[in-house]
Amino acid sequence: MHKLLLSMVVLCLASLNVFADDSAYNALMNSMKAINGVGLDRIEQDEMQAACSNPQSMIADPEESERLRQSAMAAVKKPSDGVYLGDWKRGKEIAANGKGLQYSDDQNDPNGGNCYACHQLDPDEVAYGTLGPSLTNYGMRGQSQAVLDYTWSKLWNATAWVPCSHMPRFGHNGVLTEQQLKDIMALLLDPESPVNKH
Ligand code: HEC
Repeated sequence: MHKLLLSMVVLCLASLNVFADDSAYNALMNSMKAINGVGLDRIEQDEMQAACSNPQSMIADPEESERLRQSAMAAVKKPSDGVYLGDWKRGKEIAANGKGLQYSDDQNDPNGGNCYACHQLDPDEVAYGTLGPSLTNYGMRGQSQAVLDYTWSKLWNATAWVPCSHMPRFGHNGVLTEQQLKDIMALLLDPESPVNKH
């Protein structure tokens, strides 16, 4: 009986050792190569990603979570000319465009926001994901400075509000340009936008 117990402990330790070993990480890294402008730097985690990389996808220590959230918030860049709203018609195209940042994309084309992958927006678009909340009638919140600031910073870096958010950090990671972000802001907040016409 003791022998069985001992061999179980040894087996457990051996399996733990597999995770401590970096051979799995090296095998992963060596199996990938940079293609068409998409480099291996994509695999390197920043502070927020590293802190969120656990089975719970959340930061256990509330103080650490708040420190990372505040540092994300401090790095949000507001529009350089103070104008938050662009053209909702362009925003509509950007929201529906799922291209960009993949090795198979033309690297000279502008990136899309792929918002429908996770959100309902214009209810006439029936193909949408539900990972994020519905944004239909988002414009009912009005256009106060607080709403403009909140929405801009949310789009810039969702983790400035919700650490470990699954939403892409569109401004922070340079996925969308400042002008594209303004156009998306108009899609969300302009009363004439199809997001708000229902
Ligand atoms: C991969 C999924 C994903 C994509 C793509 C995505 N989002 Fe999100 N979004 C989320 C999730 C999840 C939340 C809720 C958690 C949070 O607030 O961070 C969210 C929250 C939001 C909120 C806050 C909602 C509220 O009630 O205050 C806004 C605004 C938003 N997203 C806009 C967008 C826009 C616009 C796009 C496209 C440019 C987009 N999202 C793309 C997942 C996504």
